[in-house]
Amino acid sequence: MVFEKSFLVKGDIVYSDAIDHIVTHENSYLVCENGLVQGVFKVIPEQFAAFPLHDYEGCLIVPGMTDLHLHAPQHTFRGLNMHLELIDWLEHVAFPEEAKFKDLAYAKESYEIFARDLKNSATTRACVFATLHKKATILLMDILENTGLKCMVGKVNMDRNSPDYLTESTKDSIENTIDWIESTAKAYENTKPMVTPRFIPSCSDELMVELGRICRKYRLPLQSHLSENTNEIDWVNELCPDASGYADAYMKTGTFGGEVPTIMAHCVHLTEEEVHLIKDQKVYVAHCPSSNNNIMSGIAPVRHYIEEELNLGLGSDIAGGDSMSMFRVIVETIKSSKIYTTFVDRSSRPLTSKEVFYLATKGGGSFFGKVGSFETGYEFDALVIKDDIWKNPRGFTMEERLERALYSAEDRDIIVKYCAGNRIK
Ligand code: GUN
Ligand code: FE
Repeated sequence: MVFEKSFLVKGDIVYSDAIDHIVTHENSYLVCENGLVQGVFKVIPEQFAAFPLHDYEGCLIVPGMTDLHLHAPQHTFRGLNMHLELIDWLEHVAFPEEAKFKDLAYAKESYEIFARDLKNSATTRACVFATLHKKATILLMDILENTGLKCMVGKVNMDRNSPDYLTESTKDSIENTIDWIESTAKAYENTKPMVTPRFIPSCSDELMVELGRICRKYRLPLQSHLSENTNEIDWVNELCPDASGYADAYMKTGTFGGEVPTIMAHCVHLTEEEVHLIKDQKVYVAHCPSSNNNIMSGIAPVRHYIEEELNLGLGSDIAGGDSMSMFRVIVETIKSSKIYTTFVDRSSRPLTSKEVFYLATKGGGSFFGKVGSFETGYEFDALVIKDDIWKNPRGFTMEERLERALYSAEDRDIIVKYCAGNRIK
């Protein structure tokens, strides 16, 4: 009998099956069969008795986390230069660094460090921006493929309002995108291309319309930025006088959900009309609180988005965000929602750690399919967290152990990590 991707994991199992609900199974067996969860059991069922046992007794076992939005080339300056707001930060910090990725030696060295750090983190799935450079983007995909993480990666499109050293003509941008898709769409097991117009200010209407067509032709998802900063929104309104707002500017070019699975990062300052459009088009919102705080974009009203039942996940937004750790993003989400309640809207209930754990696992994971939970049939993405260092005489319930881990865990506390049934750490 071959046991490839079929095994039992023993430990203290915790996962979310709904936004306000956590399931716990202390000292139990989680069954992975052919890479999929087959259930959680107190006693090993007969039909799985021959599966190899991975014994992590006393450790917490939680689903892997999804980072719905981060920029691989920006990892080089993580934690630096956050004294500017978005537009100036792009011009003076992000664009000059991204330009360096034309140099493949620089790209290789930087992307290897990025991939190593992502592999060691709580993230098992990620939607990643590269740069506009085709070759460097393929290199990033090659490197990520070897980590065992499941990633969607985008060659960035920029054909206007961009510095001379980081722009393409409309024609080149389209041709390079098609070339890149054709050489990567079927090349990997773990890594897939994702169409990535940077944002409306840096992409002409002609380019956007073509990118929408490309998504439909090649059946690819799309990622971009939406309503992050108020100056950015004013700029989009000037650039797109025929659109009723920022979201409509995407909608008018066929790049906003519907048959194209779409992630929009930030969504800090949406109008109600835009909230409804996002819901109707089933667009995913990547909430990026660390970045929103660092570059002073504002606080997204996440409680409202939950009440409106938007598709919602979390993004580290490296390097607007300062940490790739989804644990840190979770805590920043909770704290930001409390500041929102305190200073913006006393009637908005702050988010709980239980709710934000859901967003980091099943919420964002659902963009990848049945991902981010241990319900039967889900892909087996799991983190084994050694949490005994936080034990004390008080004693903790499973839910309390999870909450403490979210606040305290570092990458080193994740002793083992699985993605789609493969052990990757
Ligand atoms: N909007 C357009 N590009 C970017 C980027 O690189 N980072 C962030 N935070 N927002 C953007
Ligand atoms: Fe971003």
